[in-house]
Amino acid sequence: MLNRTEPQLIRTCAELQRWSDETRASGRRIALVPTMGALHEGHLSLVQAGHRLADRVVVSIFVNPTQFGPAEDFARYPRDLARDVESLRKVGTDVVFTPSVEEIYPGGDATWVTVERLTAGLCGSSRPGHFRGVTTVVARLFNAARPHVAIFGEKDYQQLAVIRRMTRDLCFGIEIIGGPIVREPDGLAMSSRNAFLSSRARQQATALNAALHEARALVRAGVRDAASVCAEARRRIEKEPLAEIDYVQLVDAESLEPVRQVAGRSLLALAVRFEGTRLIDNAILEAP
Ligand code: PAJ
Repeated sequence: MLNRTEPQLIRTCAELQRWSDETRASGRRIALVPTMGALHEGHLSLVQAGHRLADRVVVSIFVNPTQFGPAEDFARYPRDLARDVESLRKVGTDVVFTPSVEEIYPGGDATWVTVERLTAGLCGSSRPGHFRGVTTVVARLFNAARPHVAIFGEKDYQQLAVIRRMTRDLCFGIEIIGGPIVREPDGLAMSSRNAFLSSRARQQATALNAALHEARALVRAGVRDAASVCAEARRRIEKEPLAEIDYVQLVDAESLEPVRQVAGRSLLALAVRFEGTRLIDNAILEAP
């Protein structure tokens, strides 16, 4: 059931831990939805999933500096807390956790969390250090909120896989749930970064989803060769003059290792830049 009470704003880990202890002591289940704000329907769908999975939902809003590379968009990443809180109020959120950078990284950082292998390819190779920043901040958020369940979007498929692995390896005892990709009416996966696109780039960006569709059609028609499937997806994306492909790769959906044949569950993962804005998308391709 929807809970439309005014969200409680919490800014420190100690206060969130206290809230979590009390909530757990009263026998209630806690869901955590970590975000970097600039919330859209994709984020809100995860909050709604949180309500189905738990009694209380915590949404964290923290633009995490350690997951951005030096040449990336940390400084200009969109921030609008008032608008985000308003969106969260509408879907119902119990706690909005908005720590400062100093709260999460109190200085002289010595502790990092790294997940090996799963972070080697895809976004891990084009964004060195990115996943170390993600796993480190998510581990801290887990320890601050102590949720029973945490929800992440399948749009960031590799991130979801890496966090699943970290949670298992470090015995967090938190259930990790993936939420399906929410798309704009024309198929573009929702992303806070879509706001950076010019109207020309925005139009051309629908090529990502179109490429996934064409690849899926090819597999349905019996093609199994990974190189042919990727070539078809590339051809579709390269039709757009502004598109600069970072990667188009077919990997095993569990190990994220490259595959030569579509077999079982494979993941077709795309990363493409439009005028400097990097967009990602993916689809599971299943060979019947
Ligand atoms: P952010 O990009 O704000 O995304 C927060 C969550 O929303 C992630 O789990 C992401 O996969 C999910 N999400 C984004 N767009 C989505 C869409 N179109 N459909 C479904 N889910 C979507 O991912 C991060 O923040 C950060 O790396 C974070 C995990 C918060 C750590 O800093």
